[in-house]
Amino acid sequence: MGSDRFLMQTYSRLPIGFDHGQGAWLWDTQGNKYLDAISGIAVVVLGHAHPEFVAAISDQAGKLVHTSNLYQVPLQAELGARLCAVSGMDRAFFGNSGAEANEAAIKLARRCGHERGIETPSIIVTDGAFHGRTMATLTASGNRKVHAGFEPLVSGFNRVPYDDLEAVANVGRNRNDVVAVLVEPIQGENGVVIPGSGYLRGLREICDAHGWLLMLDEIQTGMGRTGKWFAFQHEAMQPDVITLAKSLGNGVPIGACLARGAAAEVLVPGTHGSTFGGNPLACRAALAVLDRIETEDLVTHAARLGAYIVAELQRRIGAWPVVAAVRGAGLMIGVELRRACSDIVNLAMDAGVLVNVTNERVIRLLPPLNLIHSEADILVDAVANAISEFARSP
Ligand SMILES: Cc1ncc(COP(=O)(O)O)c(C=O)c1O
Repeated sequence: MGSDRFLMQTYSRLPIGFDHGQGAWLWDTQGNKYLDAISGIAVVVLGHAHPEFVAAISDQAGKLVHTSNLYQVPLQAELGARLCAVSGMDRAFFGNSGAEANEAAIKLARRCGHERGIETPSIIVTDGAFHGRTMATLTASGNRKVHAGFEPLVSGFNRVPYDDLEAVANVGRNRNDVVAVLVEPIQGENGVVIPGSGYLRGLREICDAHGWLLMLDEIQTGMGRTGKWFAFQHEAMQPDVITLAKSLGNGVPIGACLARGAAAEVLVPGTHGSTFGGNPLACRAALAVLDRIETEDLVTHAARLGAYIVAELQRRIGAWPVVAAVRGAGLMIGVELRRACSDIVNLAMDAGVLVNVTNERVIRLLPPLNLIHSEADILVDAVANAISEFARSP
């Protein structure tokens, strides 16, 4: 493998690299085969080399990759309409990543505040959140490791504990500069943290009472991952803004900020933009993702297969002393251990399965949504074996 000495050392990379993939499987440059239960961190939602997806982006690459937002982009308009139809939103803005999608949401909220005469608008965010690595999104993130060394942080954020409605209500009682709440419906990087049922509805009520925007970061949870198109659809509520990226392009970079009602009218010509955002190639990729999710009914499949995996893991390992919790929504699954367990990644990799450990103690599974039943069984076996081996180690 080539040396990475010409790359900035921003990542602690594992010592393998991949040559090609097929469905939920990856082959490394040595010819070893792995079941991919992380799918590029919730990105490759259709699995690798999905034939219809490959055909769509190949066809588009041969026709037109990029023109710019100086002109009409028919595929962008079509994608906006399709996303609004499945999410209940009114308008979309397209960027190239999750962080950019959240930047758009933050700008939208601030501008909304200014329109209402609030000169220093502030946004409520939560402990443990992850919203990206740009200056505003790292400030919005609730993890000191993400902040360290990048101070001064951006002003205009108020942090509260996650899954704590009273804390949000309390900010409302004490401040009059709040314009929005930005929150993940399930915290991904923090370890698949699922709030109590009614959290999002409760946030909706508080936001309505104060005239705040409710902005949900669905970058990891969106596009069918949790067994609904969007995680907010598990509760009978509708946010004002949602942000998407990751699975949206199945690996072709694209992010989106969707808004509804008055919030959808805030960003007008000259206020925001992106050179690449929503270009024909990225939009064709996302349209192919939407087509396949619908045609293959992957939302229902994710709900059912995810419930099966969680039940199997509960049955096999739920009572083990080292296991603190098994939890999940659709194919966003976390197994929390009682001690730091980054070694699990290597143990599972040696057994031919790729998993991720996040927040030190949580084994995170984010397989492609079209994982099949027999692959789910391989995954459960591998996770159980890796934990058993790990538990025997000091
Ligand atoms: C919930 C959430 N928001 C935002 C981001 C940032 O996305 P990106 O890395 O595409 O900028 C991530 C990435 O992990 C995420 O999980």
